[in-house]
Amino acid sequence: MIDSRTARFYEENAANYFAATSSKMLSGTASFFGEAFTQGGRILDFGSGSGRDLLILLDDGYDAWGYEPSKNLVREAVSHVPALKSRLFSSIESFEEESFDGILASAVFQHIPDTHLAHAFSMLTDLLVPGGTLLWSVPAGRSDLGLDFRDPHGRLFLLRPRARYLQLLSFFGFSEVRHWHSDDKLNRRDIRWNTWLMQKTGEKMYRQP
Ligand SMILES: C[S@@+](CC[C@H](N)C(=O)[O-])C[C@H]1O[C@@H](n2cnc3c(N)ncnc32)[C@H](O)[C@@H]1O
Repeated sequence: MIDSRTARFYEENAANYFAATSSKMLSGTASFFGEAFTQGGRILDFGSGSGRDLLILLDDGYDAWGYEPSKNLVREAVSHVPALKSRLFSSIESFEEESFDGILASAVFQHIPDTHLAHAFSMLTDLLVPGGTLLWSVPAGRSDLGLDFRDPHGRLFLLRPRARYLQLLSFFGFSEVRHWHSDDKLNRRDIRWNTWLMQKTGEKMYRQP
């Protein structure tokens, strides 16, 4: 489930957002792919934005697929790289359960409201094979948020304590493998990033109320 004001931002600013973020130099997670994902594995880029990381994964020899809820961002990505047409979808239902060895969720979870986070994690664990890996990143801080946790464009940025993420993910069978703390690739001084590599080692212990 997508926060409506956040979704509107990506729909209405797809061209500008693509231009600002599609350079491969700007990936905050690509340097971790080799450790996170088995070579040649089937990987889903969840909330793929410009499609930048999806392209890097394909170039690195992964059988990579993308899910991006903004139809305009999908259109933008495909117009620049037509080869992505058969790889990038704006519907998550396009993918079968337990069909991925790895999932990348780069800078996505901060946009998901509390009421929908458990559902998103449930879906991600269902998409992964047992033993599959989840590489995910969230911003460690931002100085431009209002009291409603939105940036000046209306995008939702929920800066949750790390324990909240890790505990909830553990309810969905994930164990922590590694954590990185890194600078922002767009050189924004007030933003740093937390990235975790987690593995699906157990069963879901959580049922949606
Ligand atoms: C900050 S961008 C990150 C894009 C890309 N992963 C990257 O690292 O450049 C956040 C992306 O998450 C997507 N998104 C927002 N809410 C989502 C949700 N509930 N499920 C999946 N993707 C979502 C947005 O459409 C947007 O493309």
